Amino acid sequence: MVTFPAGEPNKSLVQAERFWEACAEMRLDRKGAIVALGGGVCGDLAGFTASAWMRGIRFVQIPTTLLSMVDSSVGGKTGVNSAAGKNLIGAFHQPSLVIIDPSLLQTMAPREYRAGLAEVVKYGVIYDADFFTWQEEHQADLLALEGEVVMEAVYRSCAIKGHFVIHDEHENGLRAKLNYGHTFGHALEGETAYKRYLHGEAVAIGMRMAAVAAHELGMLEDEELIQRQDRLLSALELPLYHQPAEDAELDRLMVRCAGDKKVSAGKQRFILPQRMGVVDIVTDPDPSVIRAGFIAGCAQKVAD
Ligand code: GLY
Repeated sequence: MVTFPAGEPNKSLVQAERFWEACAEMRLDRKGAIVALGGGVCGDLAGFTASAWMRGIRFVQIPTTLLSMVDSSVGGKTGVNSAAGKNLIGAFHQPSLVIIDPSLLQTMAPREYRAGLAEVVKYGVIYDADFFTWQEEHQADLLALEGEVVMEAVYRSCAIKGHFVIHDEHENGLRAKLNYGHTFGHALEGETAYKRYLHGEAVAIGMRMAAVAAHELGMLEDEELIQRQDRLLSALELPLYHQPAEDAELDRLMVRCAGDKKVSAGKQRFILPQRMGVVDIVTDPDPSVIRAGFIAGCAQKVAD
């Protein structure tokens, strides 16, 4: 067993190197396997260690947080952070097995658990309108961590994630749809130095921003989506609005969006909803649309 200090700053090459040294000490050979027992940071780090050790050995994910159960443990994205940015060093390396025991969620801090629910909501919006309606009907049980309901939420989320990964493992197109709310959310996380929001909280605000941006662009056929999404996220006690410290923050958020890693060949890509269960990849939308999204997700008026 090798342990490491909790937290995103430790998803680093320094820790990966410690793991590789441990692999060497244990004489882990090509028939060996690494088991990741922990949340997303642990899975990404252990998976990356496995991807490079002896040019790739098997690994098993046993996620212990909601976010890692419904997102990071499935799909084979592994990696570490660096001075250049989050997750910029990594590899696609599929786990041989993912073992999910939702009863482990009882060990989570409530705020962390609720943040994971944002990704569950996301799956409904991007792919499965019935799943979204089911969440509306079961919002109290989801929040209360009711066993059968949580089990079904995790199962349906993983099935949807699996669909996207099977069809586009290396994110040449379709898989990017999993990033609904994330381009706005990453900008908020970066702007607040990863201290104010948990990832899922930033994604919740980001989903509101993306839905409003889609409306602004005229592509949202089902306007009620904005209200339904707001209502469900609020019922799950997730934030909908960012509190900017000053007006200049809006410009900085726009710049951060331009630097997001989904920018390809100088083009910006946003995942915006068309109707419940359907999102599109929109390339280089007019900046005014993105600005309107940011403004709609800010708690106080910012000068536009
Ligand atoms: N978390 C997004 C993905 O795995 O593609």
